Amino acid sequence: MTTAIPIRAAGPRIPDAPPVRLPTRLRRLRRSPALRALVRETRLHPSMLVAPMFVCPGVEVRESIGAMPGVERLSPDLAAAEVAALAGLGVGGVLLFGLPVAKDALGTEASADDGVVQDAFRRIRALELPLVTIADTCLCEYTDHGHCGPIGPDGRVDNDAALARLASIAVSQARAGADVVAPSAMMDGQVAAIRAALDAAGFGDTAIMAYAAKHASAFYGPFREAAGSTPAFGDRRSYQMDPANGREAMREMQLDVTEGADMLLVKPGLPGLDLIAAARERFDLPIAAYQVSGEYAMIAAAAANGWIDRRAATLETVGAMVRAGAGIVITYAAADIARWLRDMA
Ligand code: PBG
Repeated sequence: MTTAIPIRAAGPRIPDAPPVRLPTRLRRLRRSPALRALVRETRLHPSMLVAPMFVCPGVEVRESIGAMPGVERLSPDLAAAEVAALAGLGVGGVLLFGLPVAKDALGTEASADDGVVQDAFRRIRALELPLVTIADTCLCEYTDHGHCGPIGPDGRVDNDAALARLASIAVSQARAGADVVAPSAMMDGQVAAIRAALDAAGFGDTAIMAYAAKHASAFYGPFREAAGSTPAFGDRRSYQMDPANGREAMREMQLDVTEGADMLLVKPGLPGLDLIAAARERFDLPIAAYQVSGEYAMIAAAAANGWIDRRAATLETVGAMVRAGAGIVITYAAADIARWLRDMA
């Protein structure tokens, strides 16, 4: 039986403590683990988690990523095996990023039917696993300049040329078996362009998770090491949003809803808690939050130094995103969280 657990066996006698009448004592419901569990407002479940993965060329290739301990680049064969393991843990979905054999100006391999991500999706589909497969739909891992769209003659990222590329990438990902495509390039009109292309190609059932509110964040650093996608020149501030802007984020989300998004994604997660909460209020679509590479790396680095408890910090931050209103959390710690939840049950 669980009763109140004292902080220590017995304290010293406290003299002169006069009785105090308080109408409300919130500590009553915090007395025991059982009471706390009963009144807990948000709960995590493995089925609401999505694990991002980096798929690289080759066979039986497994490469660690310096800034992201516990995360690896995997070739399609090992990626499929890892997805099967995640399904076994009850994780809700996987989000695949691809690293091409060769990069070029247009990011050609991103839409290649024999590209690494497409190969991985085919292998995963063949396993008939009970989880959702999501494709990151972007160009930056595939372009030699590292930007999320083709560079025009004026040296700027060409929005409308990017739309055609993103549309064909999404179609190739759907053809390979992705249940959901997640456009992350922050090009204007990308959701509409992808929706139209999917429908025209006969993929009317492929859903779109729109990276609707994506800030130009400093927390993507480790990802760029993992995906080799640091821009060769300039930065992403002409297409990703200024982190100072919240109303603009709501406009981005509204546009994506209008263009046909099925789910909205806020990114990065912890710095975007206000946007998650506002999105939950305003829209009735599923809202996802992305605990990005830098958020993961911060916790991992502090934990490695003994400065923070990795498990508690991970559960607290992911839990905060759910409390703010996210029904889906994309996190590199998905497998660990699923194991912790299993062990706690
Ligand atoms: C691709 C993309 C990025 C991330 C997700 N999709 C990189 C970027 O925008 O620079 C970052 C994810 C992470 O940091 O975990 N555009």
